[in-house]
Amino acid sequence: MAVGVFDSGLGGLTVLDACQKRLPDVPFVYFGDNAHAPYGVRDADDIYDLTTKAVARMWDEGCDLVIIACNTASAAALRRMQESWVPRDKRVLGVFVPLIEALTERQWGDNSPPREVEVKHVALFATPATVRSRAFQRELAFRAIGVDVEAQACGGVVDAIEDGDMILAEALVRSHVEALQRKMPEPDAAILGCTHYPIMEKEFQDALGPNVKVFSQANLVAASLEDYLKRRPEMLGAGTDTVYLTTGNPSKVSDRATQFLRRKVEFISA
Ligand code: DGL
Repeated sequence: MAVGVFDSGLGGLTVLDACQKRLPDVPFVYFGDNAHAPYGVRDADDIYDLTTKAVARMWDEGCDLVIIACNTASAAALRRMQESWVPRDKRVLGVFVPLIEALTERQWGDNSPPREVEVKHVALFATPATVRSRAFQRELAFRAIGVDVEAQACGGVVDAIEDGDMILAEALVRSHVEALQRKMPEPDAAILGCTHYPIMEKEFQDALGPNVKVFSQANLVAASLEDYLKRRPEMLGAGTDTVYLTTGNPSKVSDRATQFLRRKVEFISA
């Protein structure tokens, strides 16, 4: 039994870590496509090709279920994969829906018509490709009415995190928050719509101030995975070991991952 967690690089480790804490007996196969990160500046076809290649590698590793712990791939490739690529006995799940269900105070699978919700002004911080796709606004419109969304494409933040340059990442977060505030001075909630950003959650919260509720995905996705596996235990694949795969340089990626997770993580070549 193993579940796959995929990201373009290190960001999905925030989701993996929350899943491992919640489901300590489940082996996970993590795939970081670090050689091709960032995805956020790529076009949709390119993101689709890279994501399907990585997910196919995870099927080979004994996963029947893969979490696309990457908003950019969830926004640009997931629907196309589900419609025409995923074999009947496999599943891929994205990270948008659990987040939007939390924001709109819905339980899993609540398909009732869209309704008014408490939050009215939402700031979305995401990669340029995610912002361009408008996937967040589309999913939100199925569930809520009267919510004003202002999106800020946070160019450069993922590269800085992948390079381990946290000083640059922090400066970029501040400037992206200021840019957002010029368009929406008083958001009541902020979505960290990229799995790399929880690594900078404190910096986002500090720049936004205490009155803004910051939603980040790791715990929401982990809770939703636990719920899914209770309903679909047969989706635990045949794999038995936790494995960390990367298309990048394994020793460099292992060092960064160890630094982020504050525990030893060893990647091998994908
Ligand atoms: N962490 C990913 C996301 O959630 C991808 C970032 C990137 O590769 O640009 O969007």
